[in-house]
Amino acid sequence: MPIFDSTQAIQASFAKHNYIADDKLATALRLVMALQKPLLVEGPAGVGKTASAKVLADVLGTKLIRLQCYEGLDTSTALYEWNYPKQMLHIRLTENSGESLKDREAAIFSEEFLLRRPLLEAISQLDKPPVLLIDEIDRADEEFEAFLLELLGEFQVTIPELGTLKAKNRPYVILTSNRIRELSDALRRRCLYLWQAYPSFDKEVSIIQTHLPDINEQLARQIAGFMQHLRDMHFNKVPGVAESLDWAQALVSLHQGKLDMTIIEATLGTILKDQEDWDLFHSQQKTLEHVLQTYES
Ligand SMILES: Nc1ncnc2c1ncn2[C@@H]1O[C@H](COP(=O)(O)OP(=O)(O)OP(=O)(O)O)[C@@H](O)[C@H]1O
Ligand SMILES: [Mg+2]
Repeated sequence: MPIFDSTQAIQASFAKHNYIADDKLATALRLVMALQKPLLVEGPAGVGKTASAKVLADVLGTKLIRLQCYEGLDTSTALYEWNYPKQMLHIRLTENSGESLKDREAAIFSEEFLLRRPLLEAISQLDKPPVLLIDEIDRADEEFEAFLLELLGEFQVTIPELGTLKAKNRPYVILTSNRIRELSDALRRRCLYLWQAYPSFDKEVSIIQTHLPDINEQLARQIAGFMQHLRDMHFNKVPGVAESLDWAQALVSLHQGKLDMTIIEATLGTILKDQEDWDLFHSQQKTLEHVLQTYES
């Protein structure tokens, strides 16, 4: 795949899709291709974990298959279900066919009667390998995580009535986690690993500019600088890149060319989403005013 010949080429392709990929992410994605191993991306909320998988699919011009994890997620939602109405219909339609009941029953447990859910769909693609995004794996139960091991290690799944189904084309698998729960060593061993931290100041300026090309540069720098400082303030809900972008969008739509404490106060709800965090913010107002001046020019 030519675009994955170099880290720089990946970065350039991602930039065309409005995503700033640093060296670590670009290298990890090269290795996903080269080693055909899943990539586990961990990091705080709103740093671009989910978006990186979406952009990867766009860049490769392939399908994105997404499995959103949650507590109680089970195999019938994630892998497959039998198409019960279709099975019943088949049994009734073949009642007078002369076939034995045993044969008719065997027929309805074939691939034709499967409803493919994301994981099965991901290993059944014939043309191009898709990107399989297993999003927020830490929200799923440990049992579900254990169930994933076969897929992540061998790119196959076992269906009791059918046997083992192997991937026709190995999907590019990206798992994300916010570390709500510690993941097992067995899962980690089967994956490459990337810790995606909050962006550096320069990277965040670039992210803001790529999403909002018309933004005034001074405003982009002030937002990025201010956000860097806010992230050290021990808030309950530390604002991520998603909040920086919402804030930048809000300021641009209010025709604001630069930051001051009045406009920050008026738009605080786009970056801090917790009452205690607002109180902490207000208790530090003097320091924050000083921070703002640092990014004036
Ligand atoms: N490096 C980046 N380049 C461009 N946009 C970015 C980058 N990082 C984050 N974003 C943007 O920030 C927003 C949040 O990203 P995303 O939803 O992928 O975060 P996340 O890490 O999956 O968060 P969560 O843990 O809350 O699900 C998206 O709009 C995304 O496009
Ligand atoms: Mg996400």
